[in-house]
Amino acid sequence: MNQKVIAIDGPSASGKGTVAARVAAALGWAYLDSGALYRLTALYAKNQGIAWNNENEVAQLAASLPVEFIGQTILLNQQDVSQAIRAEHIGMGASAVAKLPAVRTALLQRQRDFLTHQGLVCDGRDMGSVVFPQAALKIFLTASPEIRAERRAKQLNIPLESAEFQHILADIQARDEADQNRSVAPLRQFPDAELLDTSDLSIEEAVKKVLDWYSKKSKTQ
Ligand code: DC
Repeated sequence: MNQKVIAIDGPSASGKGTVAARVAAALGWAYLDSGALYRLTALYAKNQGIAWNNENEVAQLAASLPVEFIGQTILLNQQDVSQAIRAEHIGMGASAVAKLPAVRTALLQRQRDFLTHQGLVCDGRDMGSVVFPQAALKIFLTASPEIRAERRAKQLNIPLESAEFQHILADIQARDEADQNRSVAPLRQFPDAELLDTSDLSIEEAVKKVLDWYSKKSKTQ
């Protein structure tokens, strides 16, 4: 059992990143946004002119990503790419490179290296199943596709009646489909993970729920 790891998995735009980062801050632990590593790999491949389906070359890039995490800022080759990796097409690239087994293997140790004596809250798709199977607490954090689309639209100031909103919803559904149905590390709730449906919860309520679960677990272990 890894006493000081909380693994939070779930679909895109579920709010797991925000919840994970706040839980890490509350406990004074480190935070790993594993999706950022897949996004960085996609961006780096694009910058180097390497196709996202070129498994060997993309895996080599993933193994040698010149990345630095400095607080909220992410540097790739010493350039601030914190915004660039959030672009929609880089999200699609991340989804494409995340399907390649050699890329997942190349990123595995890198993700495990984020755990120090300090403790780690990590979020992604396979944190509890593959990267930290010994995590003290595993959570599957989700919300309905409609609620996730609404949250994303609000962040981007897009009206809910617009065609653009329908586009966001379709995009979220397509990404869920791709992440759930791929053959390597598909997204799913594992039996040893707690289900946290945030459709009707505020961020604060979701954070409290995670901290309560952790506190109960750490008393019984
Ligand atoms: O969470 P996100 O949207 O930043 O993730 C980007 C892509 O990376 C997403 O399509 C799924 C993939 N991913 C993954 O396969 N495994 C992870 N641990 C994290 C993300």
